[in-house]
Amino acid sequence: MYYDAVTNQHGLPFDPFKAIVAPRPIGWISSLDSTGRINLAPYSYFNAFSNRPNIVGFSTQGRKDSIANIEETREFVCNLATMNLMKEMNSTSASLPHGHDEMAHAGLTAAPGVSVSVPRVAESPAALECVYLQTVDLFDKDGKPANAWLVLGQVTGVYIDDAIIEDGIVNITKARPVSRLGYQDYAVIDEVFQLVRPGS
Ligand SMILES: Cc1cc2nc3c(=O)[nH]c(=O)nc-3n(C[C@H](O)[C@H](O)[C@H](O)COP(=O)(O)O)c2cc1C
Repeated sequence: MYYDAVTNQHGLPFDPFKAIVAPRPIGWISSLDSTGRINLAPYSYFNAFSNRPNIVGFSTQGRKDSIANIEETREFVCNLATMNLMKEMNSTSASLPHGHDEMAHAGLTAAPGVSVSVPRVAESPAALECVYLQTVDLFDKDGKPANAWLVLGQVTGVYIDDAIIEDGIVNITKARPVSRLGYQDYAVIDEVFQLVRPGS
């Protein structure tokens, strides 16, 4: 099949776009508002964009609490969403009133940040502390606002639970991160394989 993505005439019961851009890592974003109240929410329009400096970003569909907090306090943390935290991760996606602490709501513990004042999720085996860099306003090809914003941050500190480090290497199958697919589907990393680039 082929369809026109501008008019989105796919003829299928559900939009297949996100099922193709899959798997998408989940940035489980913690932030603080200007009064120090914790916010936590999952974003699967999330990825890394640069090595040195380490730059990561997520996109928000509509202006939600995370972007508002981050633009205000200029810091955030991306926590690794793992299989054993699925229920908690999902519960932090509920639309709670601004200022309501989703970390506490999900029964999670806040561990203090080191390079930022935003706490990480103590139960998560890895976290990227970030300083806000910029927001990219997204527009369509005709210049119409997409009602979506890409928030970029530089990683200033990395937490890794020593339990997932084996022989100096992060054994990601010990962390079992979950990623988002299309529809209501998720995938878990339980198995990895190696492939060496030509010439290396
Ligand atoms: C796995 C998962 C991934 C999500 N990814 C996104 C995303 O990429 N962009 C977005 O705007 N909302 C996404 N959401 C919905 C937000 O988590 C939800 O709107 C949340 O309430 C936003 O919280 P905030 O207002 O505290 O930032 C996702 C939800 C789930 C469960």
